[in-house]
Amino acid sequence: MAQDEPSGPDLAHGIPETQIPDGGKLVGHVGDDEVLLVRRGADIFAIGAHCTHYHGPLVDGLVVDDTVRCPWHHACFDLRTGEALRAPALSPVPCWAVERHDGNIFVLGKREDSRPRRSRPATAAPEKIVIVGGGAAGFAAAEMLRLRDHQGGIVMLSRDDAPPYDRPNLSKDYLAGNAPEDWLPLRSEGFYAEQAIDLRLRQEVASIDIRGREVLLADGGKIAYDRLLLATGAEPVRLPIPGAEQPHVHTLRSLADCRAIIDMAKGAKRAVVIGASFIGLEVAASLRAREIEVHVVAPEKRPMERILGPDMGDFVHALHLEHGVVFHLEDTAAAIERKVVRLKRGGELEADLVVVGVGVRPRLQLAEKAGLMLDRGLAVDEYLQTSAPGIFAAGDIARWPDPHTGDKIRVEHWVVAERQGQTAALNMLGEREKFVAVPFFWSQHYDVPINYVGHAEKWDEIVIDGDIAAKDCLLRYKHKGRVLAVTSIFRDIANLEAEVAMERLSAA
Ligand SMILES: Cc1cc2nc3c(=O)[nH]c(=O)nc-3n(C[C@H](O)[C@H](O)[C@H](O)COP(=O)(O)OP(=O)(O)OC[C@H]3O[C@@H](n4cnc5c(N)ncnc54)[C@H](O)[C@@H]3O)c2cc1C
Ligand code: FES
Repeated sequence: MAQDEPSGPDLAHGIPETQIPDGGKLVGHVGDDEVLLVRRGADIFAIGAHCTHYHGPLVDGLVVDDTVRCPWHHACFDLRTGEALRAPALSPVPCWAVERHDGNIFVLGKREDSRPRRSRPATAAPEKIVIVGGGAAGFAAAEMLRLRDHQGGIVMLSRDDAPPYDRPNLSKDYLAGNAPEDWLPLRSEGFYAEQAIDLRLRQEVASIDIRGREVLLADGGKIAYDRLLLATGAEPVRLPIPGAEQPHVHTLRSLADCRAIIDMAKGAKRAVVIGASFIGLEVAASLRAREIEVHVVAPEKRPMERILGPDMGDFVHALHLEHGVVFHLEDTAAAIERKVVRLKRGGELEADLVVVGVGVRPRLQLAEKAGLMLDRGLAVDEYLQTSAPGIFAAGDIARWPDPHTGDKIRVEHWVVAERQGQTAALNMLGEREKFVAVPFFWSQHYDVPINYVGHAEKWDEIVIDGDIAAKDCLLRYKHKGRVLAVTSIFRDIANLEAEVAMERLSAA
């Protein structure tokens, strides 16, 4: 993304130390680069001012020990080295050298890459690691293996026809027509060859031979593994109604799905979105940005109530109404014809384009066929290992023991999938790192971001701070007095603080 005009004082010329109190942050520039200064006691750090995920302003983030967390989607950077410690950021921020004299702070040149070289654990390294899935978890795992100096082979098998890309963008800016396609790839084309990651696209894995330690491909090929990561994600639920298989009826999971929707949206006047899920409503917002008339059909009384509660549900509903979305709630689609969606309660809606967003199902066929232990998902332990030694799982398919809730949970969040991929990579190399991250997801509706941290499947109280209608609020979902999750709009620091509090509680 384009760099903003540099702002704040020229840090190469120096600023008085008194301008930045202990614990404070300040943005200035060195040449054309915006630089964030952070003071912690005797230390002053100078790092790039913007997050390497979507360019979030780190000055509005939260400093925790010697790290700063991004306000937008909770990436975390090491203030000493610039290293991206937590997804969704995958690349480091640059670091600058700092000098202090005569009561002034001067930021000098950019430092060489000062991230520590991480070595492999002393245990015998696996020769060949196979990753099934080229999405969030699979990609993050492959990259982490190389960051940890894994010298053996990495084969990444994906049935997708594009190298790993930013899936959340498919229902947001890219679908709305506000993001060019070159924002989508997670890494450049040359990355895989440079890193000796053998990425094989359009490859369907048909089964796993656990005894023989091989994956079997749909085209008859076989690939041996020492460690295997299953990261097959989830697939959209299809509607079992007449007409659901027609070419103008879409689901949205892959870039190819998104391109097909965009193609059809170009000539469309009216769209029907079936399902008021996050994806359904994000699609509705993006199609409105293309000035298409959008009707949403969903069985619930209030969108999002099950996940966000009634007040936030009412807000999301009102927000979409304000933007011209027409809702048909407490109703479902009974049949789809060429130009019409017929509703169960008798109505009919004209539609040039139909998008079905009624939820997803984890892709468990491989795991099930191989006899791995399932538990409404693929069961893994705290190290993300499945019931078969040497086979790990991460992302939308994995149900893991979550230390914060004390329950085994499975979620469908981008950041969780990436972080699990990274943890699984370490454990495939023989480290014993537990997956303890507090789940986080975000959703974007028009200009309103909704950030959610924690996990609450049920609650007995929702405490609301601020004003939801004014888009300035934080909601705490409590069960027996304990905060299980927090959601917020434009209260990023409070959301990050809630994350830290949950981490500390579960660590204790
Ligand atoms: C449109 C959209 C918007 C989203 N927005 C958000 C958001 O705003 N915030 C958020 O937190 N989450 C969001 N999500 C959810 C998020 O994208 C997922 O949680 C995340 O992608 C899960 O990662 P994964 O690696 O488990 O699966 P995926 O990213 O789905 O990757 C699975 C991979 O496995 C491959 N695969 C599957 N089966 C096989 C097989 N048999 N052989 C070979 N390859 C196979 C697939 O081709 C794919 O490459 C969104 C999802 C979608 C679809
Ligand atoms: S912009 Fe920083 S985490 Fe997304």
